[in-house]
Amino acid sequence: MEVPRLHPDTIEEVKQRVDIVDVVSEHVVLRKRGKDYTGLCPFHDDKSPSFSVSPSKQFYYCFSCGAGGNAIKFLMEIGKHSFADVVLDLAKRYQVPIKTLEPAQKQELQRQISLREQLHEVLALTAKFYEHALQQTDGKVALDYLTQTRGLHLETIQQFQLGYAPGGWQTLFGYLVEQKQYPVELVEQAGLIVPRQEGRGYYDRFRDRLMIPIHDLQGRVIGFGGRTLGEEQPKYLNSPETELFDKGKTLFALDKARATIAKQDRAVVVEGYFDVIALHAAGITNAVAALGTALSLVQVRQLLRYTESKQIVLNFDADAAGTKAAERAIGEVTDLVYQGEVQLRVLNLPQGKDPDEYLQSHSADHYQTLLDRAPLWLDWQLQQILVGADLDQSDQFQHCTQEMVKLLGNLPNAALRTHYIHHCAELLSQGNARFTVQLEWDLRTQVRGQRWHGRSQKWQRPADRSLLEESETQLLRLYLHVPEYRQLIQDSLEERDLDFSLAHHRLLWQLILEVEKTAPALSDLIQPLQDRCVEAADRLGWVQPLFQLDEKSQRDLLRAPLVVRTAIASMERVMCEKRRRHFLDLWKQTDYSAAPDLAQYYQQQIYAETQRIEEIDRDQRQVTFSDLAQLPWVGEFQGSISDP
Ligand code: UTP
Ligand code: MN
Repeated sequence: MEVPRLHPDTIEEVKQRVDIVDVVSEHVVLRKRGKDYTGLCPFHDDKSPSFSVSPSKQFYYCFSCGAGGNAIKFLMEIGKHSFADVVLDLAKRYQVPIKTLEPAQKQELQRQISLREQLHEVLALTAKFYEHALQQTDGKVALDYLTQTRGLHLETIQQFQLGYAPGGWQTLFGYLVEQKQYPVELVEQAGLIVPRQEGRGYYDRFRDRLMIPIHDLQGRVIGFGGRTLGEEQPKYLNSPETELFDKGKTLFALDKARATIAKQDRAVVVEGYFDVIALHAAGITNAVAALGTALSLVQVRQLLRYTESKQIVLNFDADAAGTKAAERAIGEVTDLVYQGEVQLRVLNLPQGKDPDEYLQSHSADHYQTLLDRAPLWLDWQLQQILVGADLDQSDQFQHCTQEMVKLLGNLPNAALRTHYIHHCAELLSQGNARFTVQLEWDLRTQVRGQRWHGRSQKWQRPADRSLLEESETQLLRLYLHVPEYRQLIQDSLEERDLDFSLAHHRLLWQLILEVEKTAPALSDLIQPLQDRCVEAADRLGWVQPLFQLDEKSQRDLLRAPLVVRTAIASMERVMCEKRRRHFLDLWKQTDYSAAPDLAQYYQQQIYAETQRIEEIDRDQRQVTFSDLAQLPWVGEFQGSISDP
């Protein structure tokens, strides 16, 4: 259809109805900050939330990249859509009647709108029909199943509008098409009847099944799940995708759960319809389910709109399929998780039960306690690696270690990495404290190796080498001669994820750490290191000068904090520059149209490195005269420094 010219009234009304928070939060995880909302900007690689949305002004703005506008502008930019497309879409969503300037187009658009309205009507009527059938003689088996096998009260059955699709090939068809005179095409588009493969005519999609309606956020029926009452396959038959029903974007019972999710500030995601129903019946009303598909990013974002502190607990079955589903869900939201935009936890119930089974024999309070104690996703994944593994078998031990290294290597936050490396060492050493220390060391080395270390000479400029030589020498010399700065140096390297890049420095550093491991809190490192150097004389000749102090290095000792800061900054800057060149090269080799995601990923990396370099430079510029003046050795020059 060609793009219609919309009537100004329609545009105006859409602008009136649309809510910016509603629109943006489908794409960005938003947190409330005072009157406004903030989040990570979707238009540039945002490291800290610089994107702000104002409900009162109906306006968004990014303080970092300057993107800004109203809801329509947002949708145009994010989806690369035209103005007319966006307005039309919003009009459908908010049920704004569409007026165009050409009559023919007007009819076509009106038809699209009314199709959705009519589908809603047919589905609502069908749900009533199934509910009614549940109370008839035919439906007795289904009703007994609900009340006896499942132990549900009538109240719950009504709340969820559970029903029964009678047997027979054309029961619903007869009701909707013959009796109520709905057009066959409409009923087919609602997913309720299926055309016969041979010959003409249609038959009911759902026959002799227990019917569970699926609602949209406004509580309108958009589809059904139908459970067999016997052994028939599939166990659950679901509505096909229709104009109204998109499985990947719908969560079962979100309409009923969202108020509690907001109130308790936490959402629970389970696998099955009956898990949700059992939980709600037990008073745990913040539970929803994905519809037999993997939990998608869109679904997670939907949930996050209602929880302020972004807490989601996945309570999938503890069998292989459930574990896989949880792992896929974690994979789906990794980025959000890493950025701290979701606090994802995973709950496995005892004895591999699903929530419905668990609640048959336990109270809601018990369940609630387990929810509160559910481990964070990473802890859960680490546990999963160890499930069934015998760590005393060296091959299994190796395998577990490798899997853990893979997970930890992906953690972007150095502090978190350090914490988990320690934790993994504890898990793997099974309580053997001395082994833990050794393992922690090994794990750290392996995790480092996993990450892109930027050590490759390829991306280094000739000038970098002397810069690194100088900075690394200063750090190592300080480390050797001034014990009180050792912690600072260790922490700084750890925090910035830096390593010594010149081979002889790396070797010396390794020796230092080894010496310290065997004899912690040793103030004189030089003697034991000298001993070792005898063993590795050929490779350590280079570092001999570090053991001595000349006049300049004696002066360096006096201004140690400044030296550490500057040396670390230079090392990090070289590293960032190298990474930037590395990604720039990859980006140039990538065909944007063939691999847009990859190209975009490289762009983001390049941008991130650029930003970091700017930050480092900014920090370094702040090392001003006043900093210098406080240092003892500057005192003697005081007279010659005039205030800038
Ligand atoms: P499960 O097979 O785990 O069943 O499916 P359940 O929820 O424990 O079922 P009950 O307790 O025997 O009734 C979990 C979910 O996967 C989807 C449904 O949404 C179901 O609730 N599913 C399962 C299907 O869509 N089709 C199927 O054939 C099976
Ligand atoms: Mn079940």
